Amino acid sequence: MVYKILLTLLLSFQLARFTSSVAAAPSPPPQNKDWPFDVTELRAPDGSVTAKFVSIGATLTELWVKDKYGKARDVVLGYDDPEQLWTDPAHPVFNAIVGRYANRLKNGTFSIPISRNPTPGAPNVFQIPTNAHNGQVTLHGGIVGWDRRNWTLERKSRTSVTYKHIDAGHENWPGTVTAYATHTVENGGVLKTVVKATATEKTPIMLTQHTYWNLDAFQDATVDTVLDTHHLQITSSRVLDVDTNMIPTGKFINVSNTAFDFRRAQTIGARWDATTALCGEGCQGYDSEWIYDDQKRGRTSLWSDASGIRVDITSNQPAVQVYTSNWMNTVRKTHHGGAAKSYGKWSAVALEQQGYVAAVNTPEWGVDQICK
Ligand SMILES: *[C@@H]1O[C@H](CO)[C@@H](O)[C@H](O)[C@H]1NC(C)=O
Ligand SMILES: *[C@@H]1O[C@H](CO)[C@@H](O)[C@H](O)[C@H]1NC(C)=O
Ligand SMILES: *[C@@H]1O[C@H](CO)[C@@H](O)[C@H](O)[C@H]1NC(C)=O
Repeated sequence: MVYKILLTLLLSFQLARFTSSVAAAPSPPPQNKDWPFDVTELRAPDGSVTAKFVSIGATLTELWVKDKYGKARDVVLGYDDPEQLWTDPAHPVFNAIVGRYANRLKNGTFSIPISRNPTPGAPNVFQIPTNAHNGQVTLHGGIVGWDRRNWTLERKSRTSVTYKHIDAGHENWPGTVTAYATHTVENGGVLKTVVKATATEKTPIMLTQHTYWNLDAFQDATVDTVLDTHHLQITSSRVLDVDTNMIPTGKFINVSNTAFDFRRAQTIGARWDATTALCGEGCQGYDSEWIYDDQKRGRTSLWSDASGIRVDITSNQPAVQVYTSNWMNTVRKTHHGGAAKSYGKWSAVALEQQGYVAAVNTPEWGVDQICK
């Protein structure tokens, strides 16, 4: 019996258009690496966007767009050498496709059909290895999630690339999931990502693209964080309430009169004092999921006046996790300041379009993430 599912994650964004005669030319040439670190470069015909990807994790490694002066900047975090996607112990999950279950899963445990407190050992209960919060949480799909798996390059053109991954029930997940991720660049500053997956058995599937944005690309050496420079707007009135392991309690927080209210644009740091411990003990910053008011047409926008670059992200997913890189400490790309400089905490914001976090542990929501 083969269950067919079609899960489409459509992530697209549009960047402001600028008139300029300067081509969006990335500075370092593509590295000639072996699979799964092979680099594919895509270029929109109008030169508005140039993007590079590698097979491991179907990962976006560079994204060059023009600033208000017509000069190209690479607006996503990453490494000079894509092999560090595999070796960096900090493992920030730079811009990869994350699966089979993104974000946090309580104790790595779920049942099919789902239940709030599955009994370990029962026949319909699955146990995925934990890798976060002192062994109490499975984060981003397991010890080696899809972001560190060897996707294969299926096909490519000058403007589009498709990667394939077969997840044959690694780390105890039920059934085999076959996934295709297609990235496409288009005129007018558009990058579109579509992920489709089919499963041979009932399984939870929840995916995201874990892109870290810094729209100034660190071109002003005196500014290391996004707090004062980046404006954020989210069409959402509710944030998921979480416990001390950042697992949803099932309740929602009304954003009115809180530091979560980005319905009107704010700089990310506008209410920074109120973010102490929002992301867990000893942590300052955002790491929460906003549920879009219109769950089919949610929008997150981010822009910086310094570069004049703006990104509008829409997707067919109901929510966005916003993570302000609260634990970041990783050496920068050369064109972001190089080996002498690190990406530090709050140096970028990850905007992860996705489903409800841990809905498989929260049956009262009535959100079905079991693909069948
Ligand atoms: C958490 O998972 C472990 C197996 O790794 C299991 O022994 C334990 O009972 C689970 N705890 C809860 C509260 O479900
Ligand atoms: C990916 O492929 C490389 C090269 O063949 C191999 O060394 C590595 O173990 C593979 N990784 C996974 C997660 O399968
Ligand atoms: C959120 O709080 C505001 C202000 O108290 C209130 O007007 C609004 O109705 C609340 N929204 C929800 C969904 O409860």
